[in-house]
Amino acid sequence: MILVTGGAGFIGANFVLDWLAQNNEAVINLDKLTYAGNLENLVALKDDPRHIFVQGDIGNTQLVEKLLAQHCPRAVVNFAAESHVDRSIHGPEDFIQTNIVGTFHLLETVRAYWSGLAEAEKAAFRFLHVSTDEVYGSLAQGEPAFSETKRYEPNSPYSASKAASDHLVRAYHHTYGLPVLTTNCSNNYGPYHFPEKLIPLMIVNALAGKPLPVYGDGQQIRDWLYVKDHCSAIRTVLAKGKLGEVYNIGGWNEKANLDIVHTVCTLLDQLRPRTDKKSYREQIAFVTDRPGHDRRYAIDARKIECELGWKPAETFETGIRKTVQWYLDNRDWVSHVQSGDYRKWVEKNYAGRAR
Ligand code: NAD
Ligand code: DAU
Repeated sequence: MILVTGGAGFIGANFVLDWLAQNNEAVINLDKLTYAGNLENLVALKDDPRHIFVQGDIGNTQLVEKLLAQHCPRAVVNFAAESHVDRSIHGPEDFIQTNIVGTFHLLETVRAYWSGLAEAEKAAFRFLHVSTDEVYGSLAQGEPAFSETKRYEPNSPYSASKAASDHLVRAYHHTYGLPVLTTNCSNNYGPYHFPEKLIPLMIVNALAGKPLPVYGDGQQIRDWLYVKDHCSAIRTVLAKGKLGEVYNIGGWNEKANLDIVHTVCTLLDQLRPRTDKKSYREQIAFVTDRPGHDRRYAIDARKIECELGWKPAETFETGIRKTVQWYLDNRDWVSHVQSGDYRKWVEKNYAGRAR
Protein backbone atom coordinates (compact mmCIF):
# COMPACT_ATOMS: atom_id res chain seq x y z
CA MET A 1 0.00 0.00 0.00
CA ILE A 2 0.91 3.65 -0.22
CA LEU A 3 0.63 6.52 2.26
CA VAL A 4 -0.87 9.71 0.83
CA THR A 5 -0.79 12.93 2.85
CA GLY A 6 -3.28 15.75 2.23
CA GLY A 7 -5.60 13.33 0.43
CA ALA A 8 -8.78 15.15 1.47
CA GLY A 9 -7.78 18.33 -0.38
CA PHE A 10 -8.35 19.22 -4.02
CA ILE A 11 -5.51 17.38 -5.79
CA GLY A 12 -4.96 14.73 -3.10
CA ALA A 13 -8.61 13.63 -3.21
CA ASN A 14 -8.58 13.45 -7.01
CA PHE A 15 -5.36 11.41 -6.75
CA VAL A 16 -6.79 8.92 -4.22
CA LEU A 17 -10.02 8.49 -6.22
CA ASP A 18 -8.10 7.91 -9.46
CA TRP A 19 -5.53 5.64 -7.81
CA LEU A 20 -8.19 3.30 -6.44
CA ALA A 21 -10.13 3.39 -9.70
CA GLN A 22 -7.02 2.24 -11.58
CA ASN A 23 -5.58 -0.46 -9.34
CA ASN A 24 -6.13 -2.43 -6.18
CA GLU A 25 -3.30 -1.10 -4.07
CA ALA A 26 -4.69 0.31 -0.80
CA VAL A 27 -4.17 3.88 0.40
CA ILE A 28 -3.68 5.24 3.91
CA ASN A 29 -4.81 8.85 3.68
CA LEU A 30 -3.36 11.14 6.38
CA ASP A 31 -4.98 14.57 6.40
CA LYS A 32 -5.32 17.19 9.13
CA LEU A 33 -8.66 18.37 7.72
CA THR A 34 -7.87 22.08 7.73
CA TYR A 35 -10.44 24.39 6.10
CA ALA A 36 -9.22 22.97 2.73
CA GLY A 37 -9.65 19.29 3.64
CA ASN A 38 -13.10 17.86 2.99
CA LEU A 39 -14.28 14.28 3.53
CA GLU A 40 -17.14 14.94 1.10
CA ASN A 41 -14.48 14.75 -1.64
CA LEU A 42 -13.99 11.10 -0.68
CA VAL A 43 -17.59 10.06 -0.14
CA ALA A 44 -17.37 7.59 -3.06
CA LEU A 45 -14.86 5.60 -0.96
CA LYS A 46 -17.02 5.48 2.19
CA ASP A 47 -17.42 1.69 2.12
CA ASP A 48 -14.18 0.89 0.29
CA PRO A 49 -11.85 -1.18 2.54
CA ARG A 50 -8.86 -0.15 0.36
CA HIS A 51 -9.09 3.41 1.71
CA ILE A 52 -8.03 4.06 5.30
CA PHE A 53 -8.56 7.66 6.36
CA VAL A 54 -6.65 9.03 9.37
CA GLN A 55 -7.11 12.58 10.61
CA GLY A 56 -3.75 13.96 11.69
CA ASP A 57 -0.80 16.24 11.06
CA ILE A 58 2.24 15.31 8.93
CA GLY A 59 4.29 16.92 11.72
CA ASN A 60 2.94 14.49 14.36
CA THR A 61 5.94 12.16 14.54
CA GLN A 62 4.35 9.62 16.88
CA LEU A 63 1.27 9.25 14.70
CA VAL A 64 3.25 8.95 11.45
CA GLU A 65 5.66 6.44 13.07
CA LYS A 66 2.69 4.35 14.16
CA LEU A 67 1.06 4.43 10.71
CA LEU A 68 4.30 3.46 8.98
CA ALA A 69 4.97 0.59 11.40
CA GLN A 70 1.41 -0.68 11.19
CA HIS A 71 0.87 -0.51 7.41
CA CYS A 72 4.41 -0.76 5.95
CA PRO A 73 3.71 1.38 2.86
CA ARG A 74 6.02 1.04 -0.15
CA ALA A 75 5.72 4.76 -0.92
CA VAL A 76 4.71 8.13 0.54
CA VAL A 77 3.12 10.77 -1.70
CA ASN A 78 3.18 14.14 0.05
CA PHE A 79 0.40 16.53 -0.99
CA ALA A 80 -0.22 18.01 2.48
CA ALA A 81 0.37 21.76 2.47
CA GLU A 82 -1.13 25.16 2.96
CA SER A 83 -1.71 26.05 -0.68
CA HIS A 84 -3.34 29.46 -1.16
CA VAL A 85 -1.09 32.41 -2.01
CA ASP A 86 -3.58 35.06 -0.79
CA ARG A 87 -3.90 33.34 2.59
CA SER A 88 -0.09 33.20 2.84
CA ILE A 89 -0.03 36.99 2.41
CA HIS A 90 -2.61 37.53 5.17
CA GLY A 91 -1.01 34.97 7.54
CA PRO A 92 2.23 33.19 6.63
CA GLU A 93 2.73 31.28 9.88
CA ASP A 94 0.65 28.18 9.04
CA PHE A 95 2.61 27.94 5.77
CA ILE A 96 5.93 27.88 7.61
CA GLN A 97 4.56 25.38 10.10
CA THR A 98 3.09 22.84 7.67
CA ASN A 99 5.08 23.33 4.49
CA ILE A 100 8.50 23.62 6.11
CA VAL A 101 8.41 22.27 9.67
CA GLY A 102 5.75 19.65 8.84
CA THR A 103 7.66 18.39 5.79
CA PHE A 104 10.85 18.25 7.87
CA HIS A 105 9.18 16.07 10.54
CA LEU A 106 7.63 13.87 7.87
CA LEU A 107 11.02 13.40 6.20
CA GLU A 108 12.67 12.53 9.52
CA THR A 109 10.00 9.97 10.41
CA VAL A 110 10.04 8.42 6.94
CA ARG A 111 13.85 8.28 6.97
CA ALA A 112 13.82 6.32 10.25
CA TYR A 113 11.22 3.89 8.85
CA TRP A 114 13.06 3.50 5.53
CA SER A 115 16.42 2.89 7.27
CA GLY A 116 14.93 -0.09 9.08
CA LEU A 117 13.53 -1.80 5.97
CA ALA A 118 15.07 -4.94 4.49
CA GLU A 119 17.35 -4.26 1.50
CA ALA A 120 14.81 -5.13 -1.22
CA GLU A 121 12.05 -2.97 0.30
CA LYS A 122 14.53 -0.20 0.95
CA ALA A 123 15.54 -0.15 -2.70
CA ALA A 124 11.92 -0.16 -3.90
CA PHE A 125 10.72 2.56 -1.49
CA ARG A 126 9.81 6.06 -2.80
CA PHE A 127 9.06 9.45 -1.19
CA LEU A 128 7.32 11.62 -3.78
CA HIS A 129 7.06 15.31 -2.89
CA VAL A 130 4.35 17.27 -4.71
CA SER A 131 5.50 20.83 -5.35
CA THR A 132 4.69 23.81 -7.51
CA ASP A 133 6.03 25.90 -10.40
CA GLU A 134 5.74 29.00 -8.16
CA VAL A 135 9.14 28.18 -6.61
CA TYR A 136 10.76 29.39 -9.85
CA GLY A 137 9.39 32.93 -9.51
CA SER A 138 7.89 35.05 -12.25
CA LEU A 139 8.64 35.14 -16.01
CA ALA A 140 8.64 38.18 -18.28
CA GLN A 141 6.83 37.91 -21.62
CA GLY A 142 9.06 36.04 -24.09
CA GLU A 143 11.29 34.39 -21.45
CA PRO A 144 11.60 30.60 -21.85
CA ALA A 145 9.27 28.41 -19.77
CA PHE A 146 10.53 26.97 -16.45
CA SER A 147 12.81 23.97 -16.91
CA GLU A 148 13.99 21.82 -14.00
CA THR A 149 17.30 23.71 -13.89
CA LYS A 150 15.71 27.16 -13.51
CA ARG A 151 16.99 29.02 -10.43
CA TYR A 152 14.56 29.15 -7.50
CA GLU A 153 13.18 32.69 -6.99
CA PRO A 154 10.05 32.32 -4.83
CA ASN A 155 8.15 35.58 -4.31
CA SER A 156 5.30 34.84 -1.87
CA PRO A 157 5.38 33.32 1.61
CA TYR A 158 3.58 30.32 0.05
CA SER A 159 6.14 29.76 -2.71
CA ALA A 160 9.05 30.43 -0.33
CA SER A 161 7.71 27.77 2.05
CA LYS A 162 7.30 25.28 -0.82
CA ALA A 163 10.83 26.11 -2.04
CA ALA A 164 12.19 25.39 1.45
CA SER A 165 10.40 22.04 1.50
CA ASP A 166 11.83 21.15 -1.93
CA HIS A 167 15.34 21.90 -0.65
CA LEU A 168 14.80 19.70 2.40
CA VAL A 169 13.60 16.83 0.21
CA ARG A 170 16.65 17.25 -2.04
CA ALA A 171 18.97 17.31 0.99
CA TYR A 172 17.49 14.08 2.40
CA HIS A 173 18.39 12.36 -0.85
CA HIS A 174 21.91 13.75 -1.08
CA THR A 175 22.78 13.34 2.58
CA TYR A 176 20.91 10.20 3.65
CA GLY A 177 20.15 8.51 0.33
CA LEU A 178 16.38 8.69 0.91
CA PRO A 179 14.83 7.65 -2.44
CA VAL A 180 12.97 10.85 -3.27
CA LEU A 181 11.22 12.26 -6.34
CA THR A 182 9.97 15.85 -6.66
CA THR A 183 7.32 17.16 -9.03
CA ASN A 184 6.74 20.87 -9.76
CA CYS A 185 3.38 21.37 -11.40
CA SER A 186 1.57 24.37 -12.87
CA ASN A 187 -1.94 25.59 -11.93
CA ASN A 188 -4.51 22.81 -11.61
CA TYR A 189 -8.26 23.04 -12.13
CA GLY A 190 -11.10 20.52 -12.03
CA PRO A 191 -13.58 18.84 -9.64
CA TYR A 192 -13.35 19.47 -5.85
CA HIS A 193 -11.35 22.71 -6.28
CA PHE A 194 -12.00 24.89 -3.23
CA PRO A 195 -13.72 28.13 -4.33
CA GLU A 196 -11.05 30.44 -2.94
CA LYS A 197 -8.99 29.83 -6.12
CA LEU A 198 -9.61 31.63 -9.42
CA ILE A 199 -11.62 29.16 -11.54
CA PRO A 200 -14.03 27.76 -8.93
CA LEU A 201 -14.45 31.22 -7.36
CA MET A 202 -15.53 32.64 -10.72
CA ILE A 203 -18.01 29.79 -11.30
CA VAL A 204 -19.66 29.99 -7.87
CA ASN A 205 -19.74 33.81 -7.79
CA ALA A 206 -21.20 33.96 -11.29
CA LEU A 207 -24.00 31.55 -10.39
CA ALA A 208 -24.69 33.46 -7.16
CA GLY A 209 -24.99 36.78 -9.05
CA LYS A 210 -21.90 38.14 -7.27
CA PRO A 211 -19.00 40.20 -8.70
CA LEU A 212 -16.15 38.30 -10.45
CA PRO A 213 -13.07 39.91 -8.85
CA VAL A 214 -10.15 40.17 -11.29
CA TYR A 215 -6.90 41.31 -9.66
CA GLY A 216 -5.03 44.23 -11.28
CA ASP A 217 -5.30 44.30 -15.07
CA GLY A 218 -6.15 40.58 -15.39
CA GLN A 219 -3.20 40.06 -17.77
CA GLN A 220 -1.21 37.78 -15.45
CA ILE A 221 -0.53 34.44 -17.08
CA ARG A 222 -0.89 30.99 -15.58
CA ASP A 223 -0.29 27.61 -17.24
CA TRP A 224 -3.37 25.43 -16.65
CA LEU A 225 -3.53 21.64 -16.24
CA TYR A 226 -6.63 19.51 -15.63
CA VAL A 227 -6.23 17.93 -12.19
CA LYS A 228 -6.59 14.34 -13.43
CA ASP A 229 -3.65 14.92 -15.78
CA HIS A 230 -1.59 16.03 -12.79
CA CYS A 231 -2.62 12.79 -11.04
CA SER A 232 -1.57 10.65 -14.03
CA ALA A 233 1.77 12.49 -14.13
CA ILE A 234 2.38 11.73 -10.44
CA ARG A 235 1.55 8.05 -10.99
CA THR A 236 4.02 8.04 -13.89
CA VAL A 237 6.81 9.67 -11.88
CA LEU A 238 6.19 7.29 -8.97
CA ALA A 239 6.44 4.28 -11.28
CA LYS A 240 9.25 5.39 -13.60
CA GLY A 241 10.96 8.49 -12.18
CA LYS A 242 14.72 8.44 -11.61
CA LEU A 243 15.69 8.74 -7.94
CA GLY A 244 16.58 12.22 -6.75
CA GLU A 245 15.23 13.80 -9.94
CA VAL A 246 12.82 16.70 -10.36
CA TYR A 247 10.04 16.61 -12.97
CA ASN A 248 8.13 19.70 -14.09
CA ILE A 249 4.49 19.00 -14.98
CA GLY A 250 2.36 21.15 -17.27
CA GLY A 251 0.12 21.05 -20.31
CA TRP A 252 1.47 23.96 -22.41
CA ASN A 253 -1.67 26.00 -21.68
CA GLU A 254 -0.64 29.55 -20.91
CA LYS A 255 -3.67 31.82 -20.49
CA ALA A 256 -4.21 35.33 -19.14
CA ASN A 257 -6.55 35.46 -16.12
CA LEU A 258 -9.06 37.67 -17.91
CA ASP A 259 -9.27 35.13 -20.76
CA ILE A 260 -9.95 32.40 -18.21
CA VAL A 261 -12.77 34.46 -16.70
CA HIS A 262 -14.22 35.14 -20.15
CA THR A 263 -14.12 31.41 -20.98
CA VAL A 264 -15.94 30.53 -17.75
CA CYS A 265 -18.58 33.20 -18.51
CA THR A 266 -19.07 31.94 -22.07
CA LEU A 267 -19.56 28.35 -20.88
CA LEU A 268 -22.03 29.43 -18.21
CA ASP A 269 -23.88 31.58 -20.78
CA GLN A 270 -24.37 28.37 -22.80
CA LEU A 271 -24.97 25.86 -20.01
CA ARG A 272 -26.93 27.96 -17.46
CA PRO A 273 -27.92 31.32 -19.03
CA ARG A 274 -28.78 34.20 -16.69
CA THR A 275 -32.52 34.78 -16.36
CA ASP A 276 -32.10 38.31 -17.80
CA LYS A 277 -30.26 36.76 -20.82
CA LYS A 278 -27.27 39.08 -20.28
CA SER A 279 -23.77 37.57 -20.23
CA TYR A 280 -22.07 36.67 -16.94
CA ARG A 281 -19.29 38.98 -18.19
CA GLU A 282 -21.42 41.84 -16.85
CA GLN A 283 -20.37 40.70 -13.35
CA ILE A 284 -16.60 41.15 -13.93
CA ALA A 285 -15.11 43.66 -11.48
CA PHE A 286 -11.46 44.73 -11.56
CA VAL A 287 -10.11 44.93 -7.99
CA THR A 288 -6.85 45.96 -6.30
CA ASP A 289 -3.99 43.65 -7.25
CA ARG A 290 -2.44 40.90 -5.08
CA PRO A 291 0.73 42.26 -3.39
CA GLY A 292 3.87 40.90 -5.09
CA HIS A 293 1.71 39.28 -7.80
CA ASP A 294 3.77 37.03 -10.10
CA ARG A 295 3.19 38.08 -13.71
CA ARG A 296 3.67 34.85 -15.62
CA TYR A 297 4.24 31.13 -15.04
CA ALA A 298 4.95 28.63 -17.80
CA ILE A 299 6.16 25.04 -17.57
CA ASP A 300 8.56 23.37 -19.95
CA ALA A 301 7.27 19.79 -19.71
CA ARG A 302 9.72 18.20 -22.14
CA LYS A 303 11.59 16.17 -19.51
CA ILE A 304 8.57 14.21 -18.23
CA GLU A 305 7.26 13.86 -21.79
CA CYS A 306 10.50 12.62 -23.34
CA GLU A 307 12.00 10.62 -20.47
CA LEU A 308 8.85 9.12 -18.95
CA GLY A 309 6.43 9.22 -21.88
CA TRP A 310 3.71 11.22 -20.03
CA LYS A 311 1.23 13.43 -21.89
CA PRO A 312 -1.96 15.13 -20.64
CA ALA A 313 -5.26 13.63 -21.83
CA GLU A 314 -7.29 16.87 -21.74
CA THR A 315 -6.96 20.07 -23.71
CA PHE A 316 -7.88 23.26 -21.87
CA GLU A 317 -11.15 23.39 -23.83
CA THR A 318 -12.27 19.87 -22.83
CA GLY A 319 -11.07 20.23 -19.24
CA ILE A 320 -12.71 23.58 -18.52
CA ARG A 321 -16.05 22.41 -19.99
CA LYS A 322 -15.98 19.32 -17.71
CA THR A 323 -15.09 21.52 -14.76
CA VAL A 324 -17.91 24.03 -15.25
CA GLN A 325 -20.36 21.14 -15.73
CA TRP A 326 -19.09 19.50 -12.52
CA TYR A 327 -19.86 22.65 -10.51
CA LEU A 328 -23.32 22.84 -12.08
CA ASP A 329 -23.95 19.18 -11.17
CA ASN A 330 -22.61 19.44 -7.61
CA ARG A 331 -24.42 22.39 -6.08
CA ASP A 332 -24.70 20.63 -2.66
CA TRP A 333 -20.91 20.21 -2.49
CA VAL A 334 -20.55 23.92 -3.29
CA SER A 335 -23.07 25.06 -0.69
CA HIS A 336 -21.48 22.84 2.02
CA VAL A 337 -17.98 24.31 1.49
CA GLN A 338 -19.33 27.86 1.73
CA SER A 339 -19.42 27.73 5.53
CA GLY A 340 -19.11 30.65 7.96
CA ASP A 341 -15.31 30.35 7.82
CA TYR A 342 -15.38 30.57 4.04
CA ARG A 343 -17.56 33.69 4.18
CA LYS A 344 -15.14 35.26 6.70
CA TRP A 345 -12.24 34.57 4.33
CA VAL A 346 -14.05 36.17 1.38
CA GLU A 347 -14.85 39.20 3.51
CA LYS A 348 -11.21 39.49 4.66
CA ASN A 349 -9.65 39.09 1.20
CA TYR A 350 -12.02 41.22 -0.88
CA ALA A 351 -13.30 43.92 1.50
CA GLY A 352 -12.14 47.38 0.48
CA ARG A 353 -10.60 46.07 -2.73
CA ALA A 354 -13.18 47.37 -5.22
CA ARG A 355 -11.87 50.02 -7.62
P1 NAD B 1 -5.47 22.02 -0.84
O1 NAD B 1 -5.26 23.24 -0.01
O2 NAD B 1 -6.76 21.86 -1.59
O3 NAD B 1 -5.33 20.72 0.08
C1 NAD B 1 -4.32 20.57 1.03
C2 NAD B 1 -4.69 19.40 1.94
O4 NAD B 1 -3.65 19.23 2.89
C3 NAD B 1 -5.99 19.62 2.73
O5 NAD B 1 -6.78 18.48 2.68
C4 NAD B 1 -5.50 19.89 4.14
O6 NAD B 1 -6.42 19.48 5.14
C5 NAD B 1 -4.22 19.07 4.18
N1 NAD B 1 -3.24 19.55 5.18
C6 NAD B 1 -2.85 20.85 5.38
N2 NAD B 1 -1.95 20.89 6.39
C7 NAD B 1 -1.75 19.61 6.79
C8 NAD B 1 -0.92 19.01 7.78
N3 NAD B 1 -0.12 19.75 8.56
N4 NAD B 1 -0.96 17.67 7.93
C9 NAD B 1 -1.79 16.91 7.16
N5 NAD B 1 -2.60 17.42 6.23
C10 NAD B 1 -2.58 18.76 6.04
O7 NAD B 1 -4.22 21.95 -1.80
P2 NAD B 1 -4.12 21.36 -3.28
O8 NAD B 1 -4.45 22.45 -4.23
O9 NAD B 1 -4.82 20.06 -3.34
O10 NAD B 1 -2.54 21.14 -3.36
C11 NAD B 1 -1.95 19.91 -2.95
C12 NAD B 1 -0.44 20.00 -3.13
O11 NAD B 1 -0.14 20.27 -4.49
C13 NAD B 1 0.21 21.13 -2.32
O12 NAD B 1 1.42 20.65 -1.83
C14 NAD B 1 0.42 22.25 -3.34
O13 NAD B 1 1.53 23.02 -2.99
C15 NAD B 1 0.69 21.44 -4.59
N6 NAD B 1 0.32 22.09 -5.86
C16 NAD B 1 -0.92 22.64 -6.04
C17 NAD B 1 -1.27 23.19 -7.28
C18 NAD B 1 -2.64 23.79 -7.53
O14 NAD B 1 -2.85 24.40 -8.60
N7 NAD B 1 -3.60 23.66 -6.63
C19 NAD B 1 -0.32 23.19 -8.32
C20 NAD B 1 0.94 22.65 -8.09
C21 NAD B 1 1.25 22.08 -6.87
O1 DAU C 1 1.15 27.61 -10.07
C1 DAU C 1 0.75 26.61 -9.16
C2 DAU C 1 0.00 27.25 -8.02
O2 DAU C 1 -1.28 27.61 -8.54
C3 DAU C 1 -0.16 26.34 -6.81
O3 DAU C 1 1.11 26.09 -6.26
C4 DAU C 1 -1.06 26.99 -5.75
O4 DAU C 1 -1.27 26.09 -4.69
C5 DAU C 1 -2.38 27.32 -6.41
O5 DAU C 1 -3.24 27.96 -5.48
C6 DAU C 1 -2.17 28.21 -7.62
O6 DAU C 1 -1.66 29.53 -7.24
P1 DAU C 1 -2.19 30.87 -7.96
O7 DAU C 1 -1.92 32.00 -7.05
O8 DAU C 1 -1.70 30.95 -9.35
O9 DAU C 1 -3.77 30.50 -8.01
P2 DAU C 1 -5.08 31.36 -7.71
O10 DAU C 1 -6.23 30.54 -8.19
O11 DAU C 1 -5.12 31.87 -6.32
O12 DAU C 1 -4.91 32.60 -8.70
C7 DAU C 1 -4.76 32.39 -10.10
C8 DAU C 1 -4.58 33.74 -10.74
O13 DAU C 1 -5.83 34.45 -10.65
C9 DAU C 1 -3.55 34.62 -10.05
O14 DAU C 1 -2.87 35.38 -11.03
C10 DAU C 1 -4.38 35.53 -9.16
C11 DAU C 1 -5.67 35.69 -9.94
N1 DAU C 1 -6.90 35.88 -9.13
C12 DAU C 1 -7.13 35.00 -8.12
C13 DAU C 1 -8.26 35.15 -7.33
C14 DAU C 1 -8.53 34.19 -6.18
C15 DAU C 1 -7.76 36.90 -9.43
O15 DAU C 1 -7.56 37.69 -10.38
N2 DAU C 1 -8.89 37.04 -8.64
C16 DAU C 1 -9.16 36.22 -7.59
O16 DAU C 1 -10.17 36.43 -6.90
